[in-house]
Amino acid sequence: MSRTKQARVRALAKINLDLRVLERGPDGYHDLRTVFQTISLADTLDVAYTPARTTSITAAADIDIPGENLAARAAALALDAMRRSGRVEIRIRKKIPLGAGLGGGSSDAAAVLLTLPVLAGRPIETERLLDLARCLGSDVSFFLIGGTAIGIGRGSEVYPLEDRQASWGVLITPELSVSTKEAYRVLDESRALTPEAGQTMINGFQSCVWEGRAGVSSRLAGNDFEAVVFARHPRLKALKRRLERLGARPARLTGSGSALFGLFTGHESAERAAAALGKEQAFPIRLITRAQYRRLWRRQLGPGIKERTWPPHSRFA
Ligand code: C5P
Repeated sequence: MSRTKQARVRALAKINLDLRVLERGPDGYHDLRTVFQTISLADTLDVAYTPARTTSITAAADIDIPGENLAARAAALALDAMRRSGRVEIRIRKKIPLGAGLGGGSSDAAAVLLTLPVLAGRPIETERLLDLARCLGSDVSFFLIGGTAIGIGRGSEVYPLEDRQASWGVLITPELSVSTKEAYRVLDESRALTPEAGQTMINGFQSCVWEGRAGVSSRLAGNDFEAVVFARHPRLKALKRRLERLGARPARLTGSGSALFGLFTGHESAERAAAALGKEQAFPIRLITRAQYRRLWRRQLGPGIKERTWPPHSRFA
């Protein structure tokens, strides 16, 4: 009898409803204030685990992923944390474009961190999962919780916000990849960072969060990357204006780009805007709340999961 356990899971993309970049800290990373939001666009991962005495990990995607595949690294870290060995096979169907600011690679990695412990029957407590996520990249922690959440520090210290009402958007994914590292470098040079000393922007950010309007309706909300990324790619700025003219409130770059999103009050207005943008690789999206994110994970990890083991718990709980 095969001892292989497998699951097919969807790894959702994120947008940054708001993104403030502060000074760079001594660790070389910038201090952030951001509002993350999961959306309906998703990669699909098939993850299989077979216990064995030695470990081998393969991760293959249907497109070329330059550099190291984060999902494979996530599997290695998870096995290590569970003190398990064996064969892990991961197949990824990519729908989330690379270098778009949609967190696709991070979400795939988080999906592996959530899935492998269930397949191996060895829960990893929340504190440890957060450690592993931080080692993998700044956005990975957010995908352990999903919904609407604040990210501070490197963006890997994440606190959930109340679920927003169901809302719709349009996503534009231009055929253009922006290097996050490079975008931070240009931002440093241009001094377009949010100044901590002034406090005005931070106060604006705080008051929006307190009022449950995080990242959306305030004049002070925005994305600090827009200035430098739009200067280099004027087409992205023109697309933001088009989204606004079509009724998006707000229209914004996500992460360091190149994807842009616009939010709409209704499903139909989002559909109409996406159709009007037809040639621009635009499509309607849904904002996925934390309650929906949790339900999705429960469903996809199957009846095999025990209430006690998912969602992951704190060892201090
Ligand atoms: O951690 P992650 O791999 O997502 O970050 C990619 C690069 O972006 C880092 O190497 C760093 O140069 C930059 N970065 C930063 N400040 C952050 C997050 C990322 O400078 N808060």
